[in-house]
Amino acid sequence: MANRPYKIALNGYGRIGRCVLRALYERGAGAGLEIVALNDLADQASIEYLTRFDSTHGRFPGEVKVDGDCLHINGDCVKVLRQPTPEGIDWSGLGIDLLLECSGQYVNRAQGERFLRAGAPRVLFSQPMASEADVDATIVFGVNQERLSHGQTLVSNASCTTNCGVPLLKLLNDAIGLEQVFITTIHSAMNDQPVIDAYHHEDLRRTRSAFQSVIPVSTGLARGIERLLPELAGRIQAKAVRVPTLNVSCLDITVLTSRDTCADEVNQVMREAAASERFAGLIAYTELPHASCDFNHDPHSAIVDGSQTRSSGPRLVNLLAWFDNEWGFANRMLDVAEHYLHVINHKKDIP
Ligand SMILES: NC(=O)c1ccc[n+]([C@@H]2O[C@H](COP(=O)([O-])OP(=O)(O)OC[C@H]3O[C@@H](n4cnc5c(N)ncnc54)[C@H](OP(=O)(O)O)[C@@H]3O)[C@@H](O)[C@H]2O)c1
Repeated sequence: MANRPYKIALNGYGRIGRCVLRALYERGAGAGLEIVALNDLADQASIEYLTRFDSTHGRFPGEVKVDGDCLHINGDCVKVLRQPTPEGIDWSGLGIDLLLECSGQYVNRAQGERFLRAGAPRVLFSQPMASEADVDATIVFGVNQERLSHGQTLVSNASCTTNCGVPLLKLLNDAIGLEQVFITTIHSAMNDQPVIDAYHHEDLRRTRSAFQSVIPVSTGLARGIERLLPELAGRIQAKAVRVPTLNVSCLDITVLTSRDTCADEVNQVMREAAASERFAGLIAYTELPHASCDFNHDPHSAIVDGSQTRSSGPRLVNLLAWFDNEWGFANRMLDVAEHYLHVINHKKDIP
């Protein structure tokens, strides 16, 4: 940890941006990061209001007040900016170590480099970039954070689904061996869907009311996992549906294993991972009769529901893993940010 907290800023202060800020404050004293600025298209009154009151995570557990261009949080001043382009802000003047890009609007290297040219020293993106060439590293915390190195300036925190699925698939591949993988993401509604049918999305199904239907949507999950686990390339498929809930999602994962196994062995692999130091705080295991809302505000990347593991024959296994798509992912943004800046500070390169 640095002697002083590392300074970070948020670009985009929607679901993920606000969860990142709140998660940092809920970590409390001793956090190695300090948010000095945030930028969004919203006005200051709305920013104060939606920081204080959140339909999903409840009231902010601290003092929040806007005064001038400061969002005061427990006495700290977070500078509030309202610029639609990276060039509208003097990022170097903010003295930040890292920008967390949480608007989802910058998806390739050329777009990401606009922040670097405008003075941000480095950027951590809250989504997978268009291709692996568009970023210096894509990180799933707990799996490959040792890839972070001093020379990198554009890093992706992957997706919430990748953060859930990749550690579990890696564990199963290492312990048992995987031949084929099929995943269905069952995901709560997001802000790219309308409340009532409306235009403005090229994916026609995303023009439909988020709260009326279960809606199949496109997903890049299979390709996203292959970036992290190239040993499984060409052997993964995925589909996704959005469901009318506010938050918390799950992955329904089916694997064809390389050798005979059973549900008990798969659960044992997951139980051991949940108890391990490497996955502490990242993977949890339960057999209690849960429903999705039980995991609202849960910081884990994946909570394996062992009561739902099934096998059909000796090599086909299906398992279910829950994740809070907002809170878990926001906590990983903080984990990766802190680890990345620690690596930068110690000028560590890939061995
Ligand atoms: N929500 C999740 O569960 C989740 C999980 C993991 C990753 N992600 C990823 O995180 C990204 C953000 O998702 P989200 O759910 O937080 O979306 P969101 O709630 O829509 O938040 C995005 C925010 O960025 C603002 N914004 C848009 N253009 C901007 C610009 N040019 N500069 C600054 N701010 C801008 C938006 O304002 P307007 O509303 O006015 O456009 C909005 O307030 C996406 O890439 C998403 O895939 C989301």
